[in-house]
Amino acid sequence: MAKPKRRYTCQACGSVASRWQGQCADCGEWNSLVEDAPQTVFSAKHDLSSGGRPIQFTPLDQPGEVPKRRASGLAEFDRALGGGLVPGSAILMGGDPGIGKSTLLLQVAAHIAQSGGRSVYVSGEEAAGQVRLRAERLGLSKAPIQLAAATSVRDILTTLGTMEPPSLLVIDSIQTMHSDQIEGAPGTVSQVRGCAFELIRYAKENGVTLVLVGHVTKDGTIAGPRVLEHMVDVVMSFEGERSHQYRILRSLKNRFGPVDEIGVFAMEGDGLAEVGNPSMLFLSGREDPMAGSAVFPAMEGTRPVLVEIQALIVRLQSGATPRRAVVGWDNGRMAMLLAVLEARCGLNFSSAEVYLNVAGGYRLSDPAADLAVAAALISALGDKPLPNDAVWFGEVSLAGEIRPVAHASIRQRESAKLGFGRAVGPAGGPGGDGKTDKALRFTGLSMLPNLVDRI
Ligand code: TYD
Ligand code: MG
Repeated sequence: MAKPKRRYTCQACGSVASRWQGQCADCGEWNSLVEDAPQTVFSAKHDLSSGGRPIQFTPLDQPGEVPKRRASGLAEFDRALGGGLVPGSAILMGGDPGIGKSTLLLQVAAHIAQSGGRSVYVSGEEAAGQVRLRAERLGLSKAPIQLAAATSVRDILTTLGTMEPPSLLVIDSIQTMHSDQIEGAPGTVSQVRGCAFELIRYAKENGVTLVLVGHVTKDGTIAGPRVLEHMVDVVMSFEGERSHQYRILRSLKNRFGPVDEIGVFAMEGDGLAEVGNPSMLFLSGREDPMAGSAVFPAMEGTRPVLVEIQALIVRLQSGATPRRAVVGWDNGRMAMLLAVLEARCGLNFSSAEVYLNVAGGYRLSDPAADLAVAAALISALGDKPLPNDAVWFGEVSLAGEIRPVAHASIRQRESAKLGFGRAVGPAGGPGGDGKTDKALRFTGLSMLPNLVDRI
């Protein structure tokens, strides 16, 4: 047998080094390297003397068992998952503290328990009484969920081993779990990884859908090692502003379905309510046209969502460095757009503070937002309101071209349905062929300076 190798894992970023260092070479964190338990390395041999056993190969075309998805009872949850829970799969659910992860999963567990499945909910953060109180508030106290407050993975798996495997197992959260076979406090990389490994193995062997709740660090990544994201089948993120009502469930990785569908929920007094038609949600009550506000028909997977983009420009008198702040959109993308507006359209933002906000706590990831952001910025700079009945979409290149985007006709159709009268988008190309709804007047633009002329 080969000699065990020493490995040191950074507790902050999960990177592995072969010797101990004071500072992690990857993330720069000090004193974060911890020696892992020794690992044994095997080498490939032409006989079976290593103690390994032969594995079975099956041809790809041989009919196998296709796992049947189970509906969770919350259509928005199923939609984000790509069509329901897959037995024997592991889902990692991340999100800011207090965003509603525990609430959502308790509701899912209750639905499954009420529709003939069995759900087990293990809380490492709250006492069973607290979870029960929440269930009462959600009107779910009668749901036959098996509830436990535990943090030892060995205890949890031993107990589960004595009963029939449940359809759904929720672990809230993976950072609170610990295994007595692994060194380190709960929440350290080796504990999180080891506990997740044991739980995932149990789920795969028994056809259980496992949901691991994961804490999120300040920069939005799921705390603990990135390897956790590689170990699970689905990574979901529950997003929103705590001060706003709406929550979006997004899948960032999905081995069984698409990753661009979202589930939309509203946090209400009695839990999360599903929002089946979200296209209106992120429009503020607009009456009079306001300078700096532009409506963007965004696409979330196959669904259009209309969002309002707000820009504010404050001229500075002194020579102080102007601030730029973006909420709900990419910072770098805004800097790029400002540079293109300066270089290609001759607009001057350099001595002004620029603020950009996407209404309703929504986070935009659709690249077609460029044109709407540009329109909002130009409108704010000139203090000229945009027409109240217009929507804007299109991607802007560094050369100042307005480029075609996907789903142009769905964007226009939805805008017309919601009462908008005109759309401004890319001219020509597959996305900008002017195929419009009769109710909507489409203006195709090819260069950013054309946009400035129209505002
Ligand atoms: P929670 O599910 O505990 O969040 P997480 O597990 O992501 O940390 O949700 C906590 C917040 O949700 C809390 O601030 C109160 C709010 N809430 C409601 O508004 N309505 C409800 O019915 C429930 C249960 C919670
Ligand atoms: Mg919680």
